[in-house]
Amino acid sequence: VTRFIQIIAAACFALFSVAAHAQDKSSPGTVLLTGASAGHGLAFAEDYAKRGWKLIATARDPAKATELQAIAKKYPNVTIEALDITNFKQVDALAAKYKTTPIDVLNLNGAINSFSVGLEKFGPLDPVRLNEILNTNVTAQLYVAEAFLDSVAISKQKKIVAMSAVGGSIAGVKQSTAPAYRASKAALNMLMRTYGEQVKGRGVAVLIIAPGTVDVHNYYDVKDQSTVPERYRGQIERKVLAPRSAIGSMIDLIDRLTVADIAKFHQWDGKELNW
Ligand SMILES: NC(=O)c1ccc[n+]([C@@H]2O[C@H](COP(=O)([O-])OP(=O)(O)OC[C@H]3O[C@@H](n4cnc5c(N)ncnc54)[C@H](OP(=O)(O)O)[C@@H]3O)[C@@H](O)[C@H]2O)c1
Repeated sequence: VTRFIQIIAAACFALFSVAAHAQDKSSPGTVLLTGASAGHGLAFAEDYAKRGWKLIATARDPAKATELQAIAKKYPNVTIEALDITNFKQVDALAAKYKTTPIDVLNLNGAINSFSVGLEKFGPLDPVRLNEILNTNVTAQLYVAEAFLDSVAISKQKKIVAMSAVGGSIAGVKQSTAPAYRASKAALNMLMRTYGEQVKGRGVAVLIIAPGTVDVHNYYDVKDQSTVPERYRGQIERKVLAPRSAIGSMIDLIDRLTVADIAKFHQWDGKELNW
């Protein structure tokens, strides 16, 4: 009988360990994610969905976001909404729709990433492009944050996450590439850092994270590395391409961070960066 009890206890322990491992370390709540159609956003959508979060995944053009649609088909906890963050009327309408829905995490991922859509350069810098990048990466980010603030404030976790970039660190500038993008992320840092002071009294934590370039295409696993786009090959060689698991690490990081951390600039792995 003792042996039987030992076997049952061991089996239960193994089952619990497997379940604990299979589950995320984050506390699932409701997350609203911008720019969920591609890149990091799509990977965030997949991981949040797998982890059982109630995900409101927004995309500029949901009809074209076929990979996101596939995620929503697989996971009933995913709702897709149309949202262009620079269309302030659309932002207001969506915020009104979710006015009474507690949103635990507002993940402001969607932005113009010059490194994936074409670098802008000095000589001379296109002023129209500069304004477009600043409008999307700075102004629209705050507009969305303010529009959804009440929904975040009535939630349990109360977090607004700004997706910045290592390139937004003024202390880290070593080259002149992507000046508009860098400026947008440096401005985003200041805007969100001061916004954090504004809303901390309501218990809302405005967190600033540099996600790094995450290997969302699983380039590390490609056998013939010559088929990997040059930019990523260089990052693999320099060991600066973050693994696909970095997305999950960021969800765990967001879970750990609180209002006490709003003065810090975090990298995806929790390392603190210089502003
Ligand atoms: N990947 C990196 O190397 C890296 C490094 C540091 C920081 N980041 C930051 O991480 C975030 C995601 O980057 P990513 O690499 O995944 O970029 P990405 O592959 O270029 O994807 C950008 C996403 O943002 C969306 N978006 C662009 N403009 C928008 C707008 N006006 N309204 C709503 N959504 C909009 C895009 O939607 P559409 O599909 O409709 O175009 C797309 O879903 C960005 O904030 C980026 O700056 C990325």
